[in-house]
Amino acid sequence: MLRTELLINSQSCTLESDERTTLLDALRNHLNMTGTKKGCDHGQCGACTVLVNGRRINSCLTLACMHDGDEITTIEGLGGPDDLSPLQASFIKHDGFQCGYCTPGQICSATAMLKEVEDGWPSHVSEDVEGNPALTEAEISERMSGNICRCSAYPNIVNAILEAAGKTP
Ligand code: FES
Ligand code: FES
Repeated sequence: MLRTELLINSQSCTLESDERTTLLDALRNHLNMTGTKKGCDHGQCGACTVLVNGRRINSCLTLACMHDGDEITTIEGLGGPDDLSPLQASFIKHDGFQCGYCTPGQICSATAMLKEVEDGWPSHVSEDVEGNPALTEAEISERMSGNICRCSAYPNIVNAILEAAGKTP
């Protein structure tokens, strides 16, 4: 068993786990934080997306023991029923979900994605690799393409992200 110190949603936490335990299983099965979802467990759906030191990551593809000292943010840390984050509120307003299973991953991913745009990171569809990319629907769809929604709520997800970013959907 390995001992790993994590800072999860601003709370220190000591994890005792087998070295093969993924970050996703550590969150859900060891720490009882079930907001982060397991869809494929193979890095293909994005349901397990969390933030590690502010960057989005598929938690099913990384081992918990690799994150000693890291700062992890899950959907529970972004906001709750009484203090929704702008993206959480916007997903509700725009009906950005049906079953909701992909939603924690979508919102964690979108949170980091907006920061990537703000920091000027280009994507495959950006017109220029320099300067800040315009936050168009195509730009959002491309950047969120790692997050699959089986209910196909994509148009509403894009609108929710646009509004949370201060744009008119
Ligand atoms: S559960 Fe991790 S990408 Fe699907
Ligand atoms: S809301 Fe059902 S999978 Fe996205």
